[in-house]
Amino acid sequence: MQIPDIIIAIDGYSSTGKSSFAKIIAKEFSFLYLDSGALYRGVTLFAIENGYIGDDNTINVPELDKALSGLDLHFGPNGTYIGKRCIEKEIRSMEVAGKVSPIAAVAEVRTFVDRKLREFGRNGRIVMDGRDIGTTVFPDAQLKVFMTADPLVRAQRRADEMRAKGMETDLQEVLKNLQERDYIDSHREVSPLTQAEDAIVLDNSHMTMEEQLQWLKNIIKERFGL
Ligand code: DC
Repeated sequence: MQIPDIIIAIDGYSSTGKSSFAKIIAKEFSFLYLDSGALYRGVTLFAIENGYIGDDNTINVPELDKALSGLDLHFGPNGTYIGKRCIEKEIRSMEVAGKVSPIAAVAEVRTFVDRKLREFGRNGRIVMDGRDIGTTVFPDAQLKVFMTADPLVRAQRRADEMRAKGMETDLQEVLKNLQERDYIDSHREVSPLTQAEDAIVLDNSHMTMEEQLQWLKNIIKERFGL
């Protein structure tokens, strides 16, 4: 199916399979896939390694903000990079997961990440996943999907994913982290996780990837008269 040069925004709760879905869409339509959460995770790793966030998650915002101007965070052949260093594995750790929501609630961090995301998305034909892509980053995106699923299904998926990567995993801990992130992401002052008015909801608790893709294709056909 040949589709126009649009931006597809995929938002929703943690571990609803946004990135898997976005990757499949990118492959299907030859779009570029961009993972906005990876940039928040990258900033979090940077903040941990340089002491801008403490064990109790207090953040030294002025110092972090200053340091961000020198942070070369970008996407490369194997995922996310700081300079030449690939940080893809480190940013998926529980330590980063436990600190990323407070970091993503900092207005200065959001400004830094938003600027990068808009640069990447300038030319269309992209699918980007996150929490505020359809509301803040690309409010004019031509297609917006808001993903949700049962929390236990989500925790199980995330735990399986982590185990597959050889990480030690406790389902209850993953569930707790996920619910904490849902709460912080939905209640922060700056750009909270909310469904855009023109977004279409996808609850994939009991859907296969194939079914989700078919669902999206039907919407695209209808909307763009294909
Ligand atoms: O999608 P993810 O789990 O990798 O995202 C990590 C965190 O980053 C998530 O808890 C909230 C934050 N985030 C955000 O605030 N806005 C986005 N557009 C993407 C992610």
